[in-house]
Amino acid sequence: MTCGQSKGFFLLIFCLFHESEQSCPSVCLCISDTVSCSSSGLVRLPWSLPSFSVTLDLSHNYLTWLGPRSFSSLPRLENLWMAHNQISTLSYDVFKNLSGLRHLDLSSNKLEVLKQYYFQGLWRLEELRLFNNKIAQVEAGALSHMSSLKKVYISFNQITYFPFFSIQEHSHPFLVMLDLSSNRLTRLPWEDVKALPGLVQRGLYLHNNSLLCDCTMYSLFWHWNLRGYNSVKDFTNEHTCNIHGDPRASIKFLHHSRFFLNCTVEKAVTQPVTVLLSSMVVLEGDKIRLDCQTTLSGAELSFTWLSPSRGFLAPASGNGTLISVFSNGTLQIEATSVNDSGLYQCTAVDSKRGLNATREVNVSVLLPAAGSFNTGYTTLLGCIVTLILILVYVFLTPCRCRHCKEPAAAYHHSNLSSAFSSTRDKPKIETFKHVAFMEPMISEEGKNEWGTES
Ligand SMILES: *[C@@H]1O[C@H](CO)[C@@H](O)[C@H](O)[C@H]1NC(C)=O
Ligand SMILES: *[C@@H]1O[C@H](CO)[C@@H](O)[C@H](O)[C@H]1NC(C)=O
Ligand SMILES: *[C@@H]1O[C@H](CO)[C@@H](O)[C@H](O)[C@H]1NC(C)=O
Ligand SMILES: *[C@@H]1O[C@H](CO)[C@@H](O)[C@H](O)[C@H]1NC(C)=O
Ligand SMILES: *[C@@H]1O[C@H](CO)[C@@H](O)[C@H](O)[C@H]1NC(C)=O
Ligand SMILES: *[C@@H]1O[C@H](CO)[C@@H](O)[C@H](O)[C@H]1NC(C)=O
Ligand SMILES: *[C@@H]1O[C@H](CO)[C@@H](O)[C@H](O)[C@H]1NC(C)=O
Ligand SMILES: *[C@@H]1O[C@H](CO)[C@@H](O)[C@H](O)[C@H]1NC(C)=O
Repeated sequence: MTCGQSKGFFLLIFCLFHESEQSCPSVCLCISDTVSCSSSGLVRLPWSLPSFSVTLDLSHNYLTWLGPRSFSSLPRLENLWMAHNQISTLSYDVFKNLSGLRHLDLSSNKLEVLKQYYFQGLWRLEELRLFNNKIAQVEAGALSHMSSLKKVYISFNQITYFPFFSIQEHSHPFLVMLDLSSNRLTRLPWEDVKALPGLVQRGLYLHNNSLLCDCTMYSLFWHWNLRGYNSVKDFTNEHTCNIHGDPRASIKFLHHSRFFLNCTVEKAVTQPVTVLLSSMVVLEGDKIRLDCQTTLSGAELSFTWLSPSRGFLAPASGNGTLISVFSNGTLQIEATSVNDSGLYQCTAVDSKRGLNATREVNVSVLLPAAGSFNTGYTTLLGCIVTLILILVYVFLTPCRCRHCKEPAAAYHHSNLSSAFSSTRDKPKIETFKHVAFMEPMISEEGKNEWGTES
């Protein structure tokens, strides 16, 4: 047997074994733990889906309804893609036994109401995509219990009311994106919005609604704009409001502040804007520089550092000696000692606008002896392992053939990357600047929302 033949043989054995173990529906493509049934003309869920599935792609089909326990035979499921179907309701317990689900895409469907029970039990869910549906109503508890949520996209719907009070620090500690843009919100419960956790406010997208122009609204956006939130900065022109609620008298309120001259905007912000915690491990004697990068920017900032061993430090307080603060806020320690370990906190103050922001760095200084012994030891171990591997390769390689093509492997690889580009290329969507919610506008039938042809 030549090398190529034997490889093919083993691949075949492997495939047969794998196939007999779990059946893949004929209209789907199963590779590894991914099952893709996208654009397969499905009107209902396939009967038996392989129970090992981690990713299931059902997008671009004609599903209209999902029954109870639809996916309960897939306990390992983490990613469920169902964009571009005709789903208008979900029944009770539809996601029963899917407590491991992390990403759920129901965008471009026909959902009308987000009922309280829809997403029950999905407490590990991190990302929920519901843009481009017909959602008019969000029930108060619809997002409760999903305590791992990071990003929720509900743009391009018909929402007139959203239960902001149900989003709280303790109920949704990780939520950083709530996209409610391009809906029909008119009057918001601004007190509830102001009470949202800081991270949620920072990632709250409300542009292109039919907001009513008033001072409370203006004041809030004014502050978000001042703090440089991307949600406001990236869509300045789309932030419109209607004067006296008249849609014909719509103004871009971040450009035309004239109308709000009589509003008193609270100038002082009571809380420090953000805290970015980071940590750093160095060896004793290293020189370190800690930048004071906060959400504030501009030339008129002043900086102070609170250090664990030396108290408050301001620029010029340590005149170029062992520890110093530059006027741009950077703290420098010429040679660290173990005693310099601890939490360093920088405060940037913009006295003109009455804002301040803090940044924290946790510095750990280690004794060099322990460190260098460790690295020396691991390097030695690494060398020995490499040497053994080289010897194994030289003496024990079973067959050496120079023209050994690997058709099966190559085919599989390219097939995988094209067939699953929609589900696997997660980074792609991250590179869009928060524009997952804009995609229904640019995508058309026949193209899915990641832009790949189907
Ligand atoms: C769903 O989960 C419950 C409890 O973990 C278990 O008893 C039940 O067998 C599961 N159902 C299926 C269909 O796997
Ligand atoms: C604004 O929202 C409407 C629907 O509410 C949509 O048709 C329109 O395309 C959106 N405009 C922008 C610029 O997003
Ligand atoms: C602002 O208030 C003044 C006096 O109270 C009034 O004359 C003026 O019309 C108001 N301007 C706007 C834009 O409401
Ligand atoms: C930051 O702002 C708060 C509230 O405005 C204020 O009490 C505090 O002193 C400020 N911190 C500094 C370092 O200026
Ligand atoms: C610099 O620091 C030293 C001791 O730390 C002090 O004696 C000296 O006056 C300082 N010089 C200036 C210009 O602050
Ligand atoms: C601040 O200034 C110091 C010294 O000029 C420089 O080394 C450091 O990189 C600067 N930091 C930033 C964030 O620009
Ligand atoms: C660190 O602190 C200890 C006791 O607090 C002191 O004895 C020692 O000299 C300090 N070391 C340095 C390098 O400052
Ligand atoms: C800083 O780091 C040390 C060790 O890396 C850790 O023990 C300590 O809890 C950290 N402190 C904070 C406030 O995170």
